[in-house]
Amino acid sequence: MTHRSTRRTVILATGASALLAGCSQYNSGSSSSDSSPKASSGQELATTSAVPVGGGTVFKDQKVVVTQPAKGDFKAFSAVCTHQGCLVDKVANGTIDCPCHGSRFSAEDGSVKNGPATRPLPAEKITVTGNSIRLA
Ligand code: FES
Repeated sequence: MTHRSTRRTVILATGASALLAGCSQYNSGSSSSDSSPKASSGQELATTSAVPVGGGTVFKDQKVVVTQPAKGDFKAFSAVCTHQGCLVDKVANGTIDCPCHGSRFSAEDGSVKNGPATRPLPAEKITVTGNSIRLA
């Protein structure tokens, strides 16, 4: 339970974990030239209307939090707190909040806004097509 943050890819896409793990290790810096088919990795998270502008939504099953800091600008992060591994439970006032010990992370970039966590929430790749948000 304490090592979840290092295995987020496996947790997020059980059926395609090996494929995703390999891709993410070699493609961590670029997302614009993705030419691979998305059939095996494009799990739909939600529709865009499920993520409020200026707020966000925690998807507990997938352990992902999606925010929309500005209209049409969607961001996604691991929902596993980097402090001790609790799931964050809400997005409010521009931060993603952990209920366990009070850590807060920026809804724009996942950076730590309030401890005790010292490391940012890792970004997750998503694609938004029409009104559909998918894990990339
Ligand atoms: S586990 Fe999130 S603040 Fe401690």
